[in-house]
Amino acid sequence: MKKILFISFLAVVIVSCSVDPEIKPAVTAESVKEIIPPGWPTPHYNFNNNPLTLDGFTLGRNLFYDPILSSNNAISCGSCHQQFAAFSNSGHDFSHGINGLLGNRNAPAIQNLNWNPYFMHDGGILNIEVMPLGPITNPVEMNESLSNVIQKLSTSNKYRQLFTKAYGNDTINSQRIFKAIAQFMGTMYSYNSKYDNVKSGKDNFTTQEQSGYNLFVQKCASCHKEPLFSDYNFRNIGLSVNIALHDSGRARITGNPLDKYKFKTPSLRNIEKTAPYMHDGRFYTLDQCLTHYISGIVSSPTLDPQLSSGITMTIQEKNDIIVFLKTLTDTKFLTDYRYSEIH
Ligand code: HEC
Ligand code: HEC
Repeated sequence: MKKILFISFLAVVIVSCSVDPEIKPAVTAESVKEIIPPGWPTPHYNFNNNPLTLDGFTLGRNLFYDPILSSNNAISCGSCHQQFAAFSNSGHDFSHGINGLLGNRNAPAIQNLNWNPYFMHDGGILNIEVMPLGPITNPVEMNESLSNVIQKLSTSNKYRQLFTKAYGNDTINSQRIFKAIAQFMGTMYSYNSKYDNVKSGKDNFTTQEQSGYNLFVQKCASCHKEPLFSDYNFRNIGLSVNIALHDSGRARITGNPLDKYKFKTPSLRNIEKTAPYMHDGRFYTLDQCLTHYISGIVSSPTLDPQLSSGITMTIQEKNDIIVFLKTLTDTKFLTDYRYSEIH
C-alpha cells in the first residue's frame, strides 16, 4: 500500500513537472499557413514558389532571432524588430546596429508583408525573398557578408539539422536562408484587431470610436486605405526636411526630382505600439502626427496635392481619430507565441 502511495506521489510530481508553465506550446503544422482574411485584396506575394512548411517556418524563426547573421554575433533581426512593438523598434527613432552604430531611418513594423509591392520607406527592395540581404550586409546594421553567414551556419550542428528538416539535405545557401525567413515574416498576419472584429460583426465601436472612424474615412483613408491601411504609394506629406540627414526618400531610388521627399505610405495597423513615427522617427505620439497634418505641413513642389491646405480637424475630431486608431491594435498578433523568440 505504502509502495503504491509512493508511486502515485511520484506520478503526481512527474505530471506537475510536465505542466511547468515554462514549457512553451508547440507550433503546429496547421497553424503555419497562408491566410487571406475575408474581404482583403489578393496578396502581392504567395508561397507558390516557396512552399510553406512548419520546418521552413521554424528555420526562418530561428534565423530571424539569431545574432549569428551579424559580423560580431550580437545583432539579430529581432534586435530592431520587436514583437511587442509589432516588430518595429520600440522607442528608437534610429536603431542601434553593429557596435552601437545608428542608421538614419526608423525601423518599420513587420506585418502583412505579402501585400507590400516593395519594402523600405523608399521602396528600394522589391522582393520579400531578398529582403534580408539589405540588413545583413548594411555596414551600420549587421555588417556581415553572405559567404560568412553561410560559413558560420554550415559549422553549426543545429542549423545543419534545421536545414535538413526544411529542405531534405544540409546544403546551406543564400536562397534557402532567404526563403525560410520569407516563410517566417510572410506569415506574420495581423487581422484580429477590434477594428477587424467590428468589420466582421463580432464587436461594436464605442460612439467615440465610430466618430473617429467616420472622420478617418473622410480625411485619411485615401492614402491609408482599408483594410491594410496603406495604398502603398509614395507621397510627400510635407514633413520639414531634416538638414542633417537630407533624406530625399523615393528620389534616392529613382533619381527623379519629382519623387523628392516621398515615402511609402505606412500601414496604421498596430500604430499605438510602433512609436516613434515617420521615416525618421521624429514624432513620439499620435497627437504629434495628427497635429502635423493640421498645422505642420511645409509646402514644396512635391507636396501631395491632397495636403496643400493641410487637414482640418477640431481638437475633438483629432482625439476621436486617435481613439479610433487604437482599435487597430491586435493583441493576438503582438503576443502570438508562433512569432516569438524561441528559448
Ligand atoms: C539595426 C537595426 C535593424 C536590423 C538588425 C534589421 N532591421 Fe529590418 N529594418 C530596419 C530599418 C531602419 C528599416 C527601414 C529601412 C529603410 O527604409 O531604409 C528596416 C526595414 C525592414 C523591412 C521592410 C518593412 C517594410 O514595411 O518596408 C523588413 C521586412 C525588415 N526590415 C526585415 C529585417 C530582417 C529579416 C532582418 C534580419 C536579417 C532585419 N530586418 C534586421 C532596421 C533593422
Ligand atoms: C496624402 C496621403 C496621406 C494622407 C491624406 C494621410 N496620410 Fe498619414 N502618412 C502618409 C505617408 C506617406 C506617411 C509616411 C511619411 C514618412 O514616413 O515620412 C504617413 C504617416 C502617418 C503616420 C505615422 C506612421 C508611422 O508608422 O510612422 C500616422 C500616425 C499617420 N500618417 C496618420 C494619418 C492620419 C490619422 C491621417 C488623417 C488625419 C493621415 N495620416 C492622412 C500619407 C498620408
